[in-house]
Amino acid sequence: MLNIVLFGPPGAGKGTQAEKLQEKYGILHLSTGEVIRGEIGRGTELGKLAAEQMEGGKLASDELVLGIIAKYIEEHKSAPGVIFDGFPRTLPQAEAFDRMLDEAGTKVTVMLALEVPDEVVTERILTRGKTSGRADDQSIDTIRNRIEVYKKQTAVVADYYKKAGKFRAVDGVGTIDEIFGRLCAAIDALR
Ligand code: AP5
Ligand code: MG
Repeated sequence: MLNIVLFGPPGAGKGTQAEKLQEKYGILHLSTGEVIRGEIGRGTELGKLAAEQMEGGKLASDELVLGIIAKYIEEHKSAPGVIFDGFPRTLPQAEAFDRMLDEAGTKVTVMLALEVPDEVVTERILTRGKTSGRADDQSIDTIRNRIEVYKKQTAVVADYYKKAGKFRAVDGVGTIDEIFGRLCAAIDALR
């Protein structure tokens, strides 16, 4: 299985690139953010709980997110590979993820980390916010807080994969196609 952790700050282009990678490599794409927004949109209990936890740009709890991942892994055991977009986002998530994949007889192939400066991601999110309808794109305070949360709680996850020899940094500034080319080169170099 080709299991890719697509990493990077809010607005780095994870979702955009995951769509393209999914098509090229014939693998699946799981965005935990999108799953949670779907639950919120349908007004489920999980969605209500997540919306409370995420208020102001905070993370959802590890417990909630790991529940989503466990179910996904269980339901997609025979997939040729998965792009995990926006997960893992904390150290406990990364550790639990390794255990879950191990039990399923697979492992993370690589972490591809899109590197994009704060000003660029802020601008991208503000632009998207005009049309996305995403609650967390609407206020500059929430966007700044998401970037802070990324630095304080999520950036350490990169070190976890560095220690495992699975970390690859990718320049996330440029056109969508340029960045896609860099990601594909990093994946093809593994084979
Ligand atoms: P999530 O949905 O994962 O949001 P995020 O990480 O904040 O990232 P975004 O989806 O905003 O950006 P992206 O990197 O996908 O970029 P995109 O391709 O859209 O998470 C949302 C929330 O859910 C979290 O804050 C948290 O509360 C919760 N959550 C999710 N996972 C969790 C977890 N594991 N643990 C706990 N909580 C969790 O691009 C952004 C914009 O830029 C788009 O408009 C795009 O068109 C544009 N764009 C993309 N590439 C380029 C380019 N090269 N040039 C110009 N514009 C570009
Ligand atoms: Mg996204």
